Amino acid sequence: MLEKMGSWRRSCYCADVSSAQNGQTLILMGWVQRRRDHGGLIFVDLRDRSGLVQLVFNPEASNEVHDKAHDIRNEFVLAVKGIVQKRPEGTENPNLKTGQVEVAVAELRVLNDAATLPFMIEDETDVAEMTRLKYRYLDLRRAPLQNKLILRHKVAMATRNYLTENGFLEIETPVLTKSTPEGARDYLVPSRVNPGQFYALPQSPQLFKQILMISGFDRYFQIVKCFRDEDLRADRQPEFTQIDAEMSFVDREDVMKMMEGLVVRIFREGLGLDLNPPFPRLTYAEAVGRFGVDNPDVRFGLELKDLTEMLKGSGFKVFNDAAAKGGVIKAVCVKGGAGFSRKDLDDLTEIAVSFGAKGLAWVKITEEGWQSPIAKFLTDVERQDIATILEASTGDLLLFAADKPSIANTVLGRLRLNIGNRLGLIPKEGFNFVWVTEFPMLDYDDAEKRYVAVHHPFTAPMDEDLEKLDTDTLKVRAKAYDLVLNGSEIGGGSIRIHRSDVQAKVFEKLGIKLEEAQERFGFLLEALKYGTPPHGGIAFGLDRIMAIMTGSESIRDVIAFPKTQKATDVMSDAPSTVDQKQLDEIFIRIAVPKKAEAPAKA
Ligand code: AMO
Ligand code: AMP
Repeated sequence: MLEKMGSWRRSCYCADVSSAQNGQTLILMGWVQRRRDHGGLIFVDLRDRSGLVQLVFNPEASNEVHDKAHDIRNEFVLAVKGIVQKRPEGTENPNLKTGQVEVAVAELRVLNDAATLPFMIEDETDVAEMTRLKYRYLDLRRAPLQNKLILRHKVAMATRNYLTENGFLEIETPVLTKSTPEGARDYLVPSRVNPGQFYALPQSPQLFKQILMISGFDRYFQIVKCFRDEDLRADRQPEFTQIDAEMSFVDREDVMKMMEGLVVRIFREGLGLDLNPPFPRLTYAEAVGRFGVDNPDVRFGLELKDLTEMLKGSGFKVFNDAAAKGGVIKAVCVKGGAGFSRKDLDDLTEIAVSFGAKGLAWVKITEEGWQSPIAKFLTDVERQDIATILEASTGDLLLFAADKPSIANTVLGRLRLNIGNRLGLIPKEGFNFVWVTEFPMLDYDDAEKRYVAVHHPFTAPMDEDLEKLDTDTLKVRAKAYDLVLNGSEIGGGSIRIHRSDVQAKVFEKLGIKLEEAQERFGFLLEALKYGTPPHGGIAFGLDRIMAIMTGSESIRDVIAFPKTQKATDVMSDAPSTVDQKQLDEIFIRIAVPKKAEAPAKA
């Protein structure tokens, strides 16, 4: 028999019951975590978002209540009135916040029952993620997920408070808008009232926040959903949240300093941790040179060394050819790696090849000397020099990549991470921040045969490099910066171009014709003409910050309702087909080839 809550209102959350309330009568409400019958006594762990408290039903107190307690099952919703008492000696639970007390129930109201759950609500679970996503509302009853979302709220509040105290205004920007170029595909929304036309969901509020600077708002922020139709990974979702900010009358240092303050505040209020700014910095060239990637995990060594000068004239054709074509010869020394098996080396080679390498030369330095497919091509002096530069000694493994700099660095950068994980070189605890600065402004896209913006096309070139825009285009560095935490890019931003002549020139370099620029960003180009202050900003990936703060493997764990790797929501069953009538209203005809159709859903 289900009962009404009536006039009962809860006195406090379950986990807030403490011995300070001994002897007091409380009303508690929550879910049944577990019921245990101990002959006469029935124990129930009652749960809400704060945690658990033990209820005890004693037949001697009330037979009627005790009988009702017999019938309650896991996840029933209860309201109880009872007296707080100390647990009998020896039955305390030191692992529970409320482990010293229990509530002797005098009255019970069963507010709702619950069907048998597809899985138990437990902190540790091995239930398949798909099942957990389908029943996300149940998964979200688990304390670890509740705590992650509670922390996420704290971080959002710390952000709002810090930025507000520093004069930032939270201003909303549109979701139905025009394409913003951040490098991914757009999600498009057809317009019913403008047949044949589409909005794009924002990949970021980039253009609008710059326009807010032109309007004089001076300091803006927003905790904002962004949408990117790109291949998904553990740290990427099709919709995700940015802490987005923009400031006027600033240069790089001002933005970076302000944002270090924000990160410090987030970690203090979120985790009670005191970080120690300023965070270390690496230029892009240093990051890529030493760690192979632009989001370096600097918590461990295994750094890349450049052997091009030394080996370009060696007897090994692969090395010589690479160097002759303007490539590099780089290597890492894996301390104690000489014990790697044939299979380990095959695995590493496979990874190298998957990132574009033509092969992976290796050397094991053993008691018997150099064991390696390339040893025969190297002189004693060369071996000596290699060992010196790589600080290698007996027992070590050396890995070489000879290729275009972009490939050689990526390959060794990836191998470095793989080996770091494999050998347990990466500390599990701690937060390691590093700024990466002086990114190149442009990259050359071989497939499309044109320059592309490394950050986005509104990023300003470094003043001292401006004149190289025509002569040495790829050498032009941008006033851009990324913040990397434990090897993950958690934020990126730049000083923007605030002069329309410079912006027009950059579009020209990007091969964006005047008409196309007009069509895509005409409103920004026009706006830049009417008194634009120097300005710049940054956006942090809130989901990524939360995933790292909570030690989660995927950002899915810090998002209440995330999407799968296939960009679906298996709980609400989105995306899904729509009625013909809805399609007709927006003048859309479906033309999906048979082989591209989504498989029938189970
Ligand atoms: P950027 O494209 O670098 O910059 O994005 C900023 C940060 O957003 C996070 N991020 C993501 N998180 C989860 N899923 C995704 N698919 C995803 N894509 C990006 C990353 C990244 O560092 N408008 C510029 C910022 C600026 O210049 O001010 C921008 O969006 O943590
Ligand atoms: P080969 O003489 O082609 O059999 O190559 C000898 C060794 O060099 C093998 O271990 C290859 O995997 C490796 N190798 C081939 N190409 C490259 C390259 N571009 N960079 C580094 N090692 C390579």
